[in-house]
Amino acid sequence: DWTPGNVIADQVAAIKAQVGDARVICALSGGVDSAVAAALVQRAVGDQLTCVHVDHGLMREGEVEQIERDFVAATGVNLVVRDERERFLSALAGVTDPETKRKIIGREFIRVFEDAQRDIVAQAGAHGEEVKFLVQGTLYPDVVESGGGEGAANIKSHHNVGGLPDDLTFELVEPLRALFKDEVRAVGRELGVPEEIVSRQPFPGPGLGIRIIGEVTAHNLDILRRADAIAREELTAAGLDGEIWQCPVVLLADVRSVGVQGDGRTYGHPVVLRPVSSEDAMTADWTRLPYDVLATISTRITNEVREINRVVLDVTSKPPATIEWE
Ligand code: XMP
Repeated sequence: DWTPGNVIADQVAAIKAQVGDARVICALSGGVDSAVAAALVQRAVGDQLTCVHVDHGLMREGEVEQIERDFVAATGVNLVVRDERERFLSALAGVTDPETKRKIIGREFIRVFEDAQRDIVAQAGAHGEEVKFLVQGTLYPDVVESGGGEGAANIKSHHNVGGLPDDLTFELVEPLRALFKDEVRAVGRELGVPEEIVSRQPFPGPGLGIRIIGEVTAHNLDILRRADAIAREELTAAGLDGEIWQCPVVLLADVRSVGVQGDGRTYGHPVVLRPVSSEDAMTADWTRLPYDVLATISTRITNEVREINRVVLDVTSKPPATIEWE
């Protein structure tokens, strides 16, 4: 019968049989799927696995530490971190078009990940070892839809074997192929993956890059990161995480509005709260959050983030609006 423990036992055996003594690579995005897939492979073949995290500087507050510190402490994986924050900022300088942002972030991500793969292959080669496998957090719904559907426009679609350069051909290890999201979470918990990662709500691959309406700069990222952290903290404190599919916080960097803060008038930026309820992100409704929670979030953001003088609530369903603003 189905238990997380049985799934782990079966997959550990299957991974050992598939991989043998070869070395394995996995990209860790910070999301649930790649984290649980990596933890399973680590359980099966230990140090034969090397994980790579590309720090593109577009994560929310605390998320990089969750991967680099908490996930590593909990699972013991070998992790290589590429600090590429400057590279992504330069590539995004002056860009405001949403699809162009996505393309740039996707392109740079692949380049960095391929560099990292080449380094790992070269290091292994120096020890007479071969890197033969790439781990992917493909889930059952991805398999049946084949193509991944919405939200999968990240590593999953880019790193199917056929799309890799000639010197980087790997066989895929996909230990989550038979599982639904809830099952992946149960397996992750059983493996001791930190709860913040296991229960994480959906977050787009391009990260905060597509939650800044306007240019992605270090300054705008800092403002948005602080506002987003407050909103998430208050929603969690109010016990609302289970009710909300996700709640993007969007910085309208291109918009200014007049406010009065402290001693005088300000000309700051608005942020938008976009809480949505959904089953699968294909359609969504705006979540009727309690007024007192909205009030606390608004007060705290405008008090604690000097650059923001207005908090607005998005009350549009999907369709016609998408969940994200870009
Ligand atoms: P939309 O905005 O299209 O979002 O209603 C549907 C779901 O997909 C996520 N999303 C993305 N995920 N790369 C991703 O990995 C993307 O470029 C991307 N755009 C949107 C969004 O957060 C929501 O869960």
